[in-house]
Amino acid sequence: MSKKLQSINLNNVPNHIAIIMDGNGRWAKKQGMKRVFGHRNALTAVREAVAAASEIGSKFITLYAFSTENWNRPKLEVDALMSLLVSSLKKEVPDFHKNGIKVNSIGAIEKLPKKARNVLTQVINETSHNSKITLTFALSYGSREEIVNAIKNISKKVVNKEIDIKNIDEKIINNHLYTFNLPDVDLMIRTSGEQRISNFLLWQMAYAELYFTEVLWPDFRKEHLFDAIIDYQNRERRFGKTSEQIDTNA
Ligand code: IPE
Ligand code: IPE
Ligand code: MG
Repeated sequence: MSKKLQSINLNNVPNHIAIIMDGNGRWAKKQGMKRVFGHRNALTAVREAVAAASEIGSKFITLYAFSTENWNRPKLEVDALMSLLVSSLKKEVPDFHKNGIKVNSIGAIEKLPKKARNVLTQVINETSHNSKITLTFALSYGSREEIVNAIKNISKKVVNKEIDIKNIDEKIINNHLYTFNLPDVDLMIRTSGEQRISNFLLWQMAYAELYFTEVLWPDFRKEHLFDAIIDYQNRERRFGKTSEQIDTNA
């Protein structure tokens, strides 16, 4: 067992970890390669992050794989990312089963190319009975778009008298987000040194602990996730209360 893993308190792990997997392009450029080379070398990091989260007992891990804004990248790169998505998902199915990984997705999936959409739906269905950890891919995901859609859907229900305005609360809004079946994020990790949220899970991260590392995504390994967990465990999550209240459980 790794030394880092041993220093983790398994009774205080984040239930839901979200990761902004950033830095593939820079990782490739550093070696004089094209950006796509970085994306092609990102799969090991994905495997390691999910395995590490599962090892410590986290039940949910959500990976930002493609944002609404990423559609604005050069077509060649977008196409490469989409075909990598298809080939990686197909390749990982035996591993998903072996490790009890239930695959899920959030985002405007209908905007993905048909092939990617079909493979994704198939993998989600095939792994729906796995229960060790839920692995959610954020694809064509944008938090603002998600909130806009939720408002539209709630408004429709108000017009149809299915929802009374005075009953609209956080729970109803939650239920209309892509993440309706996921708990709030406890820990958000972003790689590559950028310290921003980039339109990821704005509502769901309201009280998440944020952790930034310089490691570029293709270099990310279990040890890096354990570092983030150790950092997380040294923080006090007060949720608006005072430190004294947290100490005395009041
Ligand atoms: C993250 O790496 C992957 C995606 C956004 C799809 P980037 O491609 O953003 O890599 P950098 O930030 O340019 O290095
Ligand atoms: C965020 O990374 C999106 C994903 C990791 C999928 P970007 O590299 O697109 O973010 P910005 O635009 O630099 O903030
Ligand atoms: Mg980036």
